[in-house]
Formats: sequence, C-alpha cells, structure tokens
Amino acid sequence: MDKFVINGGKELSGTVRISGAKNASLALMPATLLAPGQYRLHNTPGLRDVATMSRLLETMGLRFRREDNTLSVDSSDVRRYEAPYEHVKKMRASIYVLGPLLGRYGYAHVSLPGGCAWGPRPVNLHIEGMRKLGAQVELEGGYVTAKAKRLKGARIVFDVSSVGATGNVLMAAVLAEGTTVIDNAAMEPEIAALGEFLVRMGAKISGIGTNHLEIEGVDALHPADFTTIPDRIEAGTFLVAAAIAGKKGTAIRVQNCDPSHLSAVTTKLEDAGVMLRVGKDFVEIEPLKEILPVNVTTSIYSGFPTDMQAQWIALMSLARGTSMVTDTIYADRFMHVPELNRLGANITVKGNVATVVGVKKLAGAKVMSTDLRASASLILAGLAAEGTTEVLRVYHLDRGYERIEKKLALLGADISRVSGEEF
Ligand code: EPZ
Repeated sequence: MDKFVINGGKELSGTVRISGAKNASLALMPATLLAPGQYRLHNTPGLRDVATMSRLLETMGLRFRREDNTLSVDSSDVRRYEAPYEHVKKMRASIYVLGPLLGRYGYAHVSLPGGCAWGPRPVNLHIEGMRKLGAQVELEGGYVTAKAKRLKGARIVFDVSSVGATGNVLMAAVLAEGTTVIDNAAMEPEIAALGEFLVRMGAKISGIGTNHLEIEGVDALHPADFTTIPDRIEAGTFLVAAAIAGKKGTAIRVQNCDPSHLSAVTTKLEDAGVMLRVGKDFVEIEPLKEILPVNVTTSIYSGFPTDMQAQWIALMSLARGTSMVTDTIYADRFMHVPELNRLGANITVKGNVATVVGVKKLAGAKVMSTDLRASASLILAGLAAEGTTEVLRVYHLDRGYERIEKKLALLGADISRVSGEEF
C-alpha cells in the first residue's frame, strides 16, 4: 500500500486545475445502460472509483476506452443484469446500476452495499422508490432482486434528501409508463448533471436543479455525449489547502471549477479571513495573516457539503479561537479527528458536533487514512504541520482525487508518494 510523505511548512502558490466530478461520473456511467450504443463522457476523472465502476459495468457487457479525459462507452451488448458483492463492497455507488437495469431490462440483482468507514449508510430510500414505481423487490442473502414488466410512473416524496436515491429513481423513471414526480429530490449539481445527460439522451425531465422533479416516461432513449461538471469537492479541498498553507500575500488560482457550486464554502472561507476573487471558471484565494474561527453546520445542497467537513476541521485546528463543526448528514463522520489530534490538534467530538480549539501549530507524525475525505484532511494538516507527516493507506485518496500529490507539488508542496511497503 502507498503512503504520502509530507515535509510541512512549505508555502503554496500558483495554479491548480480541477478534474471532472467523481460523483457526477459515477452516475453518468451507469446511465449508459439505459440506451444501447456509443457514448463519449468528456472530463471524466482518472480515479479508482471510476475504474471500479468501469469494471463493474464491464461484467454486464459494457466496454470502455479512455483517451485522455474522455471515456468512450459502448453499451450495445448488455448481457448481465447483476452487481455482485465483490464489486459493490468496494464502492457503495455501485447501487446506481439498480435504477437503469430495472428501467430498461425489468430486472436487477444487486448486492447491498456494506457499511463504510463511518457508518451504516442504508439504501431503504432506493428500494422504496423502486417499489413505488411498481417493481417487485426482494431482499435476500445480502442482495436486492428487483423485477418489473414495465415500471409505472408514481409520486414519490423522499423523507430524507438523498443524492443516490434521487439518481436511482430518476434513471428508473425515464423509461417508465406515465409521469413520475419526485418531491424532496436532491439538488446537488451532480444530480442536475445526470438530469441534463438523460435529457440529452431523449428523456423528458422538468425541474432539474430543484427539489421537485417531474419525469414523463418515454419508450426509448438514445446515446449522447456529455461533458462532466468540475469536481466541487476537489476544488473546495484545494481552496482549503490555499487557506491553510498558501503563501501570505500571494494568490492561488483554482482553475476549471464552477464557483456557483461552491458558494457555501467560499463564503465560510471569507468569514475565516481569506481574500477571494471569483471568476467564471476559477477562484483566486489569498490567505491573510491568521485563520479566524468559523462555525459550520453541514447540510444538503446548497449548504455546506458534508464532503468538506473533514477538510474544514483541519483548517479550524489552526484558527485563532474555538469553532464548532456539526455534521447533520452523517452523525458519525469523524474518523479524521483522532488522527488530526495525533498531529497536535485539539478537537473533541460529542454526538455529531466537533469542538475545535485552535492551536498555534501542528507537528508532523504518522497518521492513518480511514476514508476519502478524512485522508484529504490529514494531507491538509500535514502541509501546515512542522516536520514530516506520513499519511498511510492513501488508496482511500486515490478513490476521489486525481494525482493529488502531483497537483500539490506543482503548488510548491513537499509531498511524495512512497509505494510498496506494508504500512
Ligand atoms: C452521495 O452519497 C455522495 N456519493 C457522498 O460522497 C456524499 O457524502 C453524499 O451523497 C451526501 O452528499 C456519491 O455521490 C457517489 P445520500 P449517497 O443518499 O448518495 C441517508 C464522497 O466523499 N440515506 O445523499 O450515498 C444517508 O444515511 C462521498 O465523495 C438513507 O437514510 O448519500 C445520509 O444520512 C462520501 N437511506 C443521507 O441520507 C437511503 O436509502 C444522505 O445520503 C439513502 C440515504
């Protein structure tokens, strides 16, 4: 397994280019099951999770070819309608095949995802949504088996706003008979991108980008090309990198992002004392002399994203004062806290609230990655810590960040990947 070795204290400056959005690609790729043919998905990031999704879809008969950041997909010959446990256990987003398989083939046999580093992460809303659309869904032996001659449009209200369940129901409803209404739909940009892709494929969807979606089922869809939106969480992560380790008085330019997807993060960064210049597809950020403590409560889009909670805690660990960080989406997503405390941070967690007492400095140490965004927070802290930080098991990071060590090194960080040893 690889580790990152970071010699902290280097001041970052320059420009970083943001890749395509992981959580958009992981929905767009299974959507190609809905219509046979050739697709080109531009700006698809080169991530472990994208590779995992490709391998899963290949077991069903899809074929993939990558040229730079364009992923060509051929879904002409789908011959299996199941997602086995060995794939799903690696990545929860594999559940995204349920909706398109059911919508187009009337059958899906999908392993239930396991938990993840920080908690159970149920899929009840996905299953209830399929049942509402008329599918017969059985849960047995850790698998979901869903059948339907043809799905029928229905009115669905999600008790909890769910990105995945919204995506799955959306992909199931586009070929259903009649109209489907989804209330309390997720509004995340990745779901809006999925909606736009499906419309490009011939689907009839209104309300894209809002929490009220109306889908008029059609008899067939056709392939389409699409350019994936930029990854707002990667962009947010680099904005925090600039805030925690940026060269005072100079700006770091986060290029190829969509600032309109990041307003909750940029607003909180300004409250923390950074200077921002926002353009159409970039944000320039200049750290000021000190970091001010700023409380954050995560919420659904367009609130502060839970996927930025760990990174925010890393920044607040060096603030001049105490801040409270509350996660209302995942009550137990704090595996990064004990590791940050090993670097000298002073954070306590009670329920879903972390109290972060800012310290003057962090000191390098060996720390363990537990999940994707927790690992990102350890890197951010390592950039600012005095001395050497080793972040172990960085395969977690490779799931959602494209060559993060190369992008950080280009900004002046002293970070290298050490392969091979058993850490
Ligand atoms: C998506 O996960 C993202 N993953 C996650 O990003 C992100 O943290 C999450 O949305 C929240 O924004 C992808 O898009 C691949 P949810 P998802 O369904 O769809 C509860 C990352 O770091 N819930 O919106 O699984 C759930 O427990 C990853 O890139 C149910 O109760 O999240 C949570 O409390 C981590 N029943 C809330 O809803 C269900 O059936 C939001 O979950 C489904 C969800």
